[in-house]
Amino acid sequence: MRYLITGATGLVGKEIVRLCHANGIAVNYLTTSRNKIVSKENYHGFYWNPKTGELDNNCFKGVSVIINLAGATIAKRWSKSYKKKIIDSRINSISTLYNAINNLESHDIKSFISASAIGIYPSSLEKYYDEKEKNVDNSFLGEVVKLWENEVDSFKSLKITVTKIRIGLVLAADGGALPQMATPVKLYAGAAFGSGKQWQSWINITDLARIFLFTAKNNLNGNYNAVAPNPVSQNKLIKEIAKAVQRPLILPNIPASIIKLILGKMSYLVLSSQRVSSKKIEEDGFIFKHPNISSALQSIYGQKEIQGANSVGLF
Ligand SMILES: NC(=O)c1ccc[n+]([C@@H]2O[C@H](COP(=O)([O-])OP(=O)(O)OC[C@H]3O[C@@H](n4cnc5c(N)ncnc54)[C@H](OP(=O)(O)O)[C@@H]3O)[C@@H](O)[C@H]2O)c1
Repeated sequence: MRYLITGATGLVGKEIVRLCHANGIAVNYLTTSRNKIVSKENYHGFYWNPKTGELDNNCFKGVSVIINLAGATIAKRWSKSYKKKIIDSRINSISTLYNAINNLESHDIKSFISASAIGIYPSSLEKYYDEKEKNVDNSFLGEVVKLWENEVDSFKSLKITVTKIRIGLVLAADGGALPQMATPVKLYAGAAFGSGKQWQSWINITDLARIFLFTAKNNLNGNYNAVAPNPVSQNKLIKEIAKAVQRPLILPNIPASIIKLILGKMSYLVLSSQRVSSKKIEEDGFIFKHPNISSALQSIYGQKEIQGANSVGLF
């Protein structure tokens, strides 16, 4: 079995590749950086340029599932030109794939599974969101995710199963938001953001990768939230990080006004609130390895996670 992954070289992509290999699934991947190309039997890179629509059709050979993660990071100051890049990189990646597949004489692709984000749900301290929610957050993030998901839906016309994984705050040792939150805590300078009441619907990176493979294996279609069953407030998250890295929390919360001054519009990433449900994927049979924040952080900072352990009992 062979999957094609875009954005395979990023934080989430690397974990999905690791899990694919642990389960005997070979990976082709598309990268925008020629220096990231590797040509092994089970890990074969192909260059693409979503800006110009350039793509090597050999990447589809023997592929039954496409996992789409490509997109410029949102964790960079949101200038007008960078906002355009955030949107264009996602839309162009999907349209490049779509056009290439649409022009193939034949292929074996059964599923197109794309990253999406819980940023689509309107920020709220009270609401508890499931996938049936129709309202979209009135923010740049809401706009990005709406446009992104609409583009993903174009694949339905290719008669391929389409799945959108609405990803929450990814907790991983080596990248994403967690190390940035944990570093000041380790230096006795950690503090929660704003009121600290905002909901953080987080997910451990291994569980996230398992969800991608679970939806592929079970041919699930539609929208799925990829968040752990127990979201926490920002106050609780920082407290749990402090416990995991064995430091006291000394400082008061950083006021929202200061965060806005430092991060500009991007402050929305840490100040908005989404309490999101994992019920749908659980009802389809997915079992979280890390349902609680303390065990998820322990697996990262307690170094209890055994590399490759997921080769057994993944699904
Ligand atoms: N991490 C989170 O907390 C989180 C939460 C919600 C949603 N997501 C979404 O999940 C996806 C994967 O997240 P991640 O954290 O793994 O992201 P990441 O580490 O930034 O990796 C994204 C990958 O996308 C590719 N890429 C970068 N700029 C691109 C561009 N202009 N055009 C096409 N491809 C480009 C890069 O691969 P190459 O250099 O190989 O081309 C990069 O490795 C992203 O779309 C992200 O928005 C992540």
